[in-house]
Amino acid sequence: VEIKENYSLQHLNTFGIKAYAKLFVEVNAISDILELITSGFLKNHLWMVLGGGSNILFTKDFDGLVIKNSLFGIEIEQEDSNTVLVRAMAGELWDNLVSFAIKHNLGGIENLSLIPGSVGAAPVQNIGAYGVELKDTFESLEAINTKTGEIEVFSNDACKFGYRDSIFKNELKGLYIIVSISLRLQKNPIYNVEYFALKEKLKDNSKPLSVSLISEYVSDIRRSKLPDPKVIGNAGSFFKNPEITLEKFTDLKSRFPDIQSFDLPNGDKKIPAGWLIEQVGLKGKQFGQTGSHKNQALVLVNYGEAKGEEILALANLIKKSVLEKFDIELKEEVTTI
Ligand code: EPU
Repeated sequence: VEIKENYSLQHLNTFGIKAYAKLFVEVNAISDILELITSGFLKNHLWMVLGGGSNILFTKDFDGLVIKNSLFGIEIEQEDSNTVLVRAMAGELWDNLVSFAIKHNLGGIENLSLIPGSVGAAPVQNIGAYGVELKDTFESLEAINTKTGEIEVFSNDACKFGYRDSIFKNELKGLYIIVSISLRLQKNPIYNVEYFALKEKLKDNSKPLSVSLISEYVSDIRRSKLPDPKVIGNAGSFFKNPEITLEKFTDLKSRFPDIQSFDLPNGDKKIPAGWLIEQVGLKGKQFGQTGSHKNQALVLVNYGEAKGEEILALANLIKKSVLEKFDIELKEEVTTI
């Protein structure tokens, strides 16, 4: 493998922030990763894997090795009368996997159309949109244990998926390099069209439901709300939607009657962070080269030359304002370096 020095990461993060990696390597095969392990290189350096760079904010240079995962390939692994097991390598773009499913008329991930990022990053934060999460179709993944160089298989349960969460963000953080994931997709899917925006869109639809139709509608909704990172730098939702107790919700509802919420299985409520940000008057506000997006307050953007610190300062202002007004602590979805 070829290790490069002082490597610009600007084109490798969707915020488009200028930052450098002290060391950089692109891995094109599992053997490249094993070489980094057996040579002792990984052990002796601080390292991180970069997928699509769509969930990361660089506020400084990375003083270690950035590993760009370029393991490609999508294949049908197994098939029975109702389902198909599809395996995708970690370096593939997530949306290429969605396109593969649609091309083969397989259901389960059509609601996850157009999500930026890589296949390998998808399980780390259990990506989700429009009522569907990765965990709903996830069968297993293969990851290299960087301490032993062994490839280990993680089942759905072993990944301990939660809302934008998994074992790879917690106990096993920084220990494994994901090489592939396998999803169980449906030949005769039951479509999930309960999400408000999707339901609205389907109201006047007369065409029969299909994976491609839903994918098209989801893509339309995303394009109408979320800025295209190729045009305006951003990393999707900057914060998670906070979860609060019913008691706290009831109190807030009495003071803010139009507060929105989603019910959680344990009786708690999930509050849209975008609504909270809007209520503190920060939606669409621009601060120098950064700001909160005009169509979706939860998305922080880089208007061109923003520094990571400026975006972080805005994130902190948002957190402080929401805490003061609602006594709710917003937690970042994006990883800050
Ligand atoms: N809302 C506002 N103001 C805003 C934005 C949203 O009041 O500026 C309200 C809307 O009125 C709406 C509700 O919040 O009723 C939900 O908004 P939206 O459907 O846009 O979704 P979200 O809760 O803001 C989440 C995910 C998105 C995902 C969408 C659709 C998180 C942190 N974000 O956003 O995921 O695409 O639902 O399912 O859970 C991402 O993770 O990067 C991401 C974009």
